[in-house]
Amino acid sequence: MTIRVYGLQAEQRQEPLGIDHPRPRLSWKLDSDRRGAAQTAYRITAALRPADLDDPGRLLWDTGRRESGDGLLIPWDGPALQSATRCHWRVEVWDETGAAAGNPAGSARSWFETGLLHRSDWSAVWIGRDPVRHPAVQPPGAADIAGADLLPPPLHLRRAFHVDTRPVRARLYATARGVYEPRLNGCRAGDHELAPGWTEYHRRLQYQTYDVTGLVHAGDNVLGAVVADGWWSGYVGFDPRRAAQHYGDCPALLAQLVLDFADGSRRVIATDTVWTERPGAILSADLLMGQVVDARRHVPDWDAAATIDGFAPVAVLDTEPGPLVAEPDHPVRVTMELPAATVEHKAPGRYVVDFGQNLVGRVRLTLRSAPRGRRVTVRHAEVLTDGEQDGELYAANLRRAAATDRYVAAGEPVEVFEPQFTTHGFRYVEIDGHPGELDVADVVARVLHSDTPWTGRFECSDPVTNQLYTNIAWGQRGNFVAVPTDCPQRDERLGWLADAQIFAPTATRNADVAAFFARWMRDVVDGQDTDGAFRDVAPVITMHREAAPAWGDAGVIIPWHLWRTYGDRQVLADSFDAMAAWVAHVRRHNPDLRWRHHTGNNYGDWLQVDADTPRDLLATAYFARSAAIVADAADVLGRPDVAAEHRALHAAIRQAFITAYVHPDGAVEGETQTGYLLALAFGLLPDDLIAAAVKHLAADVEQRGNRLTTGFVGVQLLCPVLAEHGRADLAYALLHQDEFPSWGYSIRHGATTIWERWDGWTEHGGFQADAMNSFNHYSLGSIGDWLFGRVAGIDQTPGSVAYRDLLLRPLPGGRLTWARAEQDTARGPVACGWARTDDRITVTVTVPPGSTALLEVPTADPAGVREHDEPAHTRPGVLGAEPSAAGLTLRLASGRYTFTASHTPDHTPDHTPVQEMP
Ligand code: BGC
Repeated sequence: MTIRVYGLQAEQRQEPLGIDHPRPRLSWKLDSDRRGAAQTAYRITAALRPADLDDPGRLLWDTGRRESGDGLLIPWDGPALQSATRCHWRVEVWDETGAAAGNPAGSARSWFETGLLHRSDWSAVWIGRDPVRHPAVQPPGAADIAGADLLPPPLHLRRAFHVDTRPVRARLYATARGVYEPRLNGCRAGDHELAPGWTEYHRRLQYQTYDVTGLVHAGDNVLGAVVADGWWSGYVGFDPRRAAQHYGDCPALLAQLVLDFADGSRRVIATDTVWTERPGAILSADLLMGQVVDARRHVPDWDAAATIDGFAPVAVLDTEPGPLVAEPDHPVRVTMELPAATVEHKAPGRYVVDFGQNLVGRVRLTLRSAPRGRRVTVRHAEVLTDGEQDGELYAANLRRAAATDRYVAAGEPVEVFEPQFTTHGFRYVEIDGHPGELDVADVVARVLHSDTPWTGRFECSDPVTNQLYTNIAWGQRGNFVAVPTDCPQRDERLGWLADAQIFAPTATRNADVAAFFARWMRDVVDGQDTDGAFRDVAPVITMHREAAPAWGDAGVIIPWHLWRTYGDRQVLADSFDAMAAWVAHVRRHNPDLRWRHHTGNNYGDWLQVDADTPRDLLATAYFARSAAIVADAADVLGRPDVAAEHRALHAAIRQAFITAYVHPDGAVEGETQTGYLLALAFGLLPDDLIAAAVKHLAADVEQRGNRLTTGFVGVQLLCPVLAEHGRADLAYALLHQDEFPSWGYSIRHGATTIWERWDGWTEHGGFQADAMNSFNHYSLGSIGDWLFGRVAGIDQTPGSVAYRDLLLRPLPGGRLTWARAEQDTARGPVACGWARTDDRITVTVTVPPGSTALLEVPTADPAGVREHDEPAHTRPGVLGAEPSAAGLTLRLASGRYTFTASHTPDHTPDHTPVQEMP
């Protein structure tokens, strides 16, 4: 195969509709079977119509041939882009033989479309319910149905309009203060959920762009929207006050439908005083509390009939659009449906349904022949109670989140209830008030999350490890909902910074979260205070103190990780001042360079077990790490003076750390696993004490019977550091451990996601305190990065960006007989896997065009490494071969390879070179 060009992206998304970046960055990926395949040059051409790409006279932009091996984030430098314009583009590449490579003509094409780029493009104003003339009163009887969860009813807004002919193009630009669902002629526009998502609303509010060309017809039309409170004015986090206290107290809509006709004319239907409003069937909807629907109150055709009674004029709530930005990342969508695994009949009308998987989303329930006025309640829980009330929902851990949806039947033969303005974290639901026998096919779980493309896969011979990986993946799905959240079920669901930074390396293995994290980084930066302190959460809500160590450091770590993983220099540049300001903030308040002051809520190694890692040690280690990253980032951004300053700062912090916390025998103050892990991983030990520190660490693990004590912070480093320092045996022992505390313990007790705490439920103590006991937190799932990076073996060298220089280091061990991971990286497909028998090992790898790899083949017989029965070093694409601690290290050009070598199960590399965390 020649080179295949695929995965074309603009601004880190495929075919994005409505972007407002003035110079969108274009990217593509490459794939090839041919060894040594590489791009050597490219040419991008762009035009307003696909056909114009073939007409040199009609091109909008032509880069000409550019000598470059990269297809990563190439900024548009054609003429300034106009609003609401679709731009078609094509990329041609030349390969290492000089030949034009690529797909059959035309397939390496894509497009992006701009949104509304200028303030003057907006004629819409914010509309909503007139708070004075129409206070948000609930209809009689509503409180009785909805109970304490009752909030003001969501808005149903509409505007009829007439067009003589169908437009050739129709776009809806819309957003809400609240969450909204746009409607056009009785249909839903687009497939976004919970739009516009959650941002630091005071600073940025995202609008969405929908292609609604197919929904507008000649004649009468109706544009509408339902708007609920969402993050704008509903309950958010554990603050007992509604978000009204933070953002605003009434939801509102801003929308603009732009119709382009064949004759070149344009018509704009914008939110204005012509719109009307009334409450509908949804009595109340809240992210935490759930949704209440009284189907008897449904107004038929409210969003389709040209004329309608009962709608009152809207109020203009604001004439300024405010800080609007085009949605820059993947929207939340329903991405899958899970059928019920079992349905248990508990009592007349009451069922408990098990979906077999802890997930995030909602339930779609079909009711047949429900009598009019029948009340059906759907409650959600992650686990069932044990003990006396066997098999009932354990909902105490939801705290104030009622997570209850209610429905009052209209009395139709078939009614479908699916709330759209709430999400729940659940595996089980209790359906109460069901009118008949619940058919298992009538209840479906709908999974929703930010629809970041899934790009990674890990698999191995051990079912428990595979379950662990599955649990990690579900944790990511459930907690990447508009922002990276700590948990999806209780009254919290906040963008906690440490959780995000600890899990980010795993997240980027699983999915293309480039745009997702870059977008969230703006919230992190927006949340920074004038002293340079980040906050514990972003968007900032309720947590107004300076961030804690390892929490605030996310503001430094994540942009750097995005640069390393995706080659996104812009997120680094955009965050850089904030990163440096954070380090300056810590330094300013800690002149002796031990971070002991201004430590915010100082959570330490949060949720560690049977250990107490000194908080100032942990803080100082993170201070060192952040200073080192700022130095590296300054180098990348061409700021050598800032780099030198931070390098010196890092050296001084390191020295302060050693002086204060490292004893002459290599013991680290506090003698906890996390203390050792931080010192080893962040390079904070004198060279001659590393081996001794590793011994202390290993001894601690061993004397506990191969158990861990690490919390959120330490756990990320546990297996990587042990494996890196010649104790892969212990890393595997921890991976396979199934006594408390361990990943295996939760799996043995039925976990299908990663628990917040090691002791969320134990045989000896039952449930942990209800006040803080989530069964879906991803932090302890940060081992996912190690499964990909070391167990299967996909990594990159410390200086590499976006997997250009791969470091493939399969690590056979434990009870695994094979393992394999694949990642569709920013450059193309990368894979690494191994399989062993009693005396042989086979290693299979994929290196994408333009990348090279160092592959460590684990063998005691380096000379015996073969491909197709020929010595490895003689094979095409093998650029070098050298015996190494692991066995044989091969330098590979791009391509797919399969090597075999002799291998005995107990041959685990005893000391691979010490590598610090980048
Ligand atoms: C959250 C965490 C968070 C922590 C701070 C908890 O309530 O769920 O995940 O990082 O607070 O210690």
